[in-house]
Amino acid sequence: MTEKKHVILTGDRPTGKLHIGHYVGSLKNRVALQNTGKYDTYIMIADQQALTDNARDPEKIRRSLHEVALDYLAVGIDPKQSTIFVQSQIPALSELTMHYLNLVTVSRLKRNPTVKTEIQQKKFGESVPAGFLIYPVSQAADITAFKADTVPVGDDQEPMLEQTREIVRTFNRIYQQDILVEPEGVFPPKGEGRIPGLDGNAKMSKSLGNAIYLSDDEDTIQKKVMSMYTDPTHIKVSDPGHVEGNTVFTYLDIFDPDKEQEAKLKEQYQAGGLGDVKIKRYLNDVLQAELKPIRERREQYAANIDYVDQILQEGSARANEVANQTLKEVRDAIGINYFG
Ligand code: TRP
Repeated sequence: MTEKKHVILTGDRPTGKLHIGHYVGSLKNRVALQNTGKYDTYIMIADQQALTDNARDPEKIRRSLHEVALDYLAVGIDPKQSTIFVQSQIPALSELTMHYLNLVTVSRLKRNPTVKTEIQQKKFGESVPAGFLIYPVSQAADITAFKADTVPVGDDQEPMLEQTREIVRTFNRIYQQDILVEPEGVFPPKGEGRIPGLDGNAKMSKSLGNAIYLSDDEDTIQKKVMSMYTDPTHIKVSDPGHVEGNTVFTYLDIFDPDKEQEAKLKEQYQAGGLGDVKIKRYLNDVLQAELKPIRERREQYAANIDYVDQILQEGSARANEVANQTLKEVRDAIGINYFG
């Protein structure tokens, strides 16, 4: 008897290109898990979730669809091992969402910490689109449609997993079934999952203009690295510098494979006598080495966008089969398959 495989379902909203914050926050984990061969991996481009606060700009989402697909393929999501698909092409997800909405209260939705923060950041107040408020329920539909037990995501997604587990428990209890599966998150190693922006802001994001993209060319990366925030008290090369809160060293902590060399540089920097230009050049080399193969693979796929479309189309067809089967079981459990 073959052992049942674990299942991964994860994804991102396509609102632009992915940056190295996404890379360390979740993409790295997804590729590593895929490559163990122990999982059925489904990676979803969450265009419908992106539309919950971009309904008036669908063109932006449409454009970003290919960018995110290219970013996935570039980092090593392998379409032969993983199913890459597009959320809006899977109608069963919308129907599952409707069924789950009856198991969730409005007050519970309003308490989701990640959604709460987003509502504040986007200044929605009471004018929050209903679809946005309930997106954690549609996320529960995404995860449970594939009976995923493993969800590699950034730390900010833990509240979505908690809400999904609640929905699974409620559903299985009410309908006396065990068809739905409770998912667990897989998060990046402590201290490596969140990369600050180039300007030292705690968050790297498109809207803050402080990101390095997986698609950035060599010159752009170098310019960005040379502009990075370091230690404002480190004025002359001979001054002793700080490494804590110094963005260049935070990036080295995450990306530099040569920990011995990095420790030496930190020591020199703290003692005084090591200039910012030097450490930035060193970081530039480290980043270029990591990002070059990614960029090259991205360019190969970008030159063959019909093939990328084919991957998404075939992936969506496979995803439909699985999600439709789960939907059938859910309808059976509720007892609404009236006509067989
Ligand atoms: N919420 C995720 C994001 O902000 C995207 C997403 C949608 C997702 N559905 C998912 C992630 C299911 C993991 C599992 O990008």
